[in-house]
Amino acid sequence: MEATLINPLRAGMRHTRTIDPCIMVIFGATGDLTHRKLIPALYNLALEQPLPAGFSAIGFARREYTNEDFRKQALAAVNANSRRRPVNANVWETFAQGLFYCPANFDDPAGYDRLGALMDQLDRERGTAGNRIFYLATDPSYYPTIIALLREKGLARRGDRNDGWSRIIVEKPFGRNLASAQALNDDLSTAFHEGQIYRIDHYLGKETVQNILVMRFGNGIFEPIWNRRYIHHVQITAAESLGLEGRAGYYEKAGALRDMIQNHMMQLLTLVAMEPPAAFVADSVRDEKVKVLRSIVPLQDAEIERNVVRGQYGSGWQGGEHVLGYCAEPGVARDSRTETFVALKLLIENWRWAGVPFYLRTGKRLTKRLTEIAIEFKRPPYLLFKGTGADEMQPNVLSLRIQPNEGVSLRFGAKVPGQEMQIRPVNMEFFYGRSFGVQPPEAYERLLLDCMYGDSTLFTRRDETELSWRLVDTIAHAWSTMPASSIGEYEPGSSGPRAADELIERDEMTWRRL
Ligand code: BG6
Repeated sequence: MEATLINPLRAGMRHTRTIDPCIMVIFGATGDLTHRKLIPALYNLALEQPLPAGFSAIGFARREYTNEDFRKQALAAVNANSRRRPVNANVWETFAQGLFYCPANFDDPAGYDRLGALMDQLDRERGTAGNRIFYLATDPSYYPTIIALLREKGLARRGDRNDGWSRIIVEKPFGRNLASAQALNDDLSTAFHEGQIYRIDHYLGKETVQNILVMRFGNGIFEPIWNRRYIHHVQITAAESLGLEGRAGYYEKAGALRDMIQNHMMQLLTLVAMEPPAAFVADSVRDEKVKVLRSIVPLQDAEIERNVVRGQYGSGWQGGEHVLGYCAEPGVARDSRTETFVALKLLIENWRWAGVPFYLRTGKRLTKRLTEIAIEFKRPPYLLFKGTGADEMQPNVLSLRIQPNEGVSLRFGAKVPGQEMQIRPVNMEFFYGRSFGVQPPEAYERLLLDCMYGDSTLFTRRDETELSWRLVDTIAHAWSTMPASSIGEYEPGSSGPRAADELIERDEMTWRRL
């Protein structure tokens, strides 16, 4: 079971990596993220044993909980959201003894004194040796205050020292635009150096996302054709069937562009497009991703209307159920212009990709949940089977399914048995579930563990974040000058607004069916 938790890219390091006992302080410990993701991930790490003995988590939040209350809440979180259930009583007992709670307002300096004293006590009692991870899981408006108080109270030590290390994990949204992302980066750098900062993008923790690199650089057959000579275009889709799920407060300020494109989709794009890194270490991998971001042809204001489409779901029927339109969702302004769908075309101007369009689309309340990267190859240079109906055959497509039905499929033409020369597309399929027969770990399990190891390969670096915001800002700025009618309404359960189809059809292509 342990092997499933090891990043295949670094499997060779598996026996050499040890995790120091440490304390994770979760700011915003009574919130949704802690309940849905963080506590279940930590419990699963305890269950599968990479969590070091003595590991302790301290919940830091405003509610007046005791340690016991926090442990009860944590158990409820595991019961509701753990990947592996039912809860193993012995593992839980040991794990729960390492959970503590520190009630305080985020701007109350005395709370940080109590936190410091509690951490010192745990170092003595549980052997955590001064090693700390601070996890910012609050509303982002508290981030500057928390960072400043960690600094002032001497809790955020700059760099690794003999008396332990400290690291900070920052949840998304990482800013709202380039200026706020830069301000947050500046704030962070007053207390931590870049090597201590772990900007989380949970897509990078998904097994299938990491497999993009393994497919490309762990096999001999794909990389030689992974370029403009063989690839016609690339489609990256992250479709969701769910709607807002009660997150109006956040989503109204974000929208699909900031919520999905700036982070998750750009990460998928860079992994598909990057050059082979010099080594599988954090900075080499991130250097190559940054080069891709730098090579994206900037969108000029005048092109944005043509190359970027936004939409918002209306009311209607989805899966036999009547669902509210976005503007009727609780907490959403009735005349909201927040987009719940984005499709765009990008070009990457470098030696490998010149002239190959990348089409990205993401949206809520679409036909179904599907995240995939489809690489469509050029047709054969000469159509040998002309006039047989076979000349209309479909191009080869390699599709990497990130979720659900995680796997890879390759579409190619095969002869239909019989006297006629008829060709039909068929698929060669690989399914994770079938081939490995194990449940992959949750993204947060991998990422929390990597942070404990001190490996930031799967976290985003300052320059990556800022370059990605630069692109998003250009689009957001152009949109702010356009009329509301430029947001196309789409039916729930559809594949998005008609304008998204037009975007790709202009280039004589179509989106893959959802
Ligand atoms: C989150 C977004 O980062 O990613 C959500 O805030 C989105 O709006 C979610 O639903 C998608 O993640 P996943 O893992 O379900 O694809």
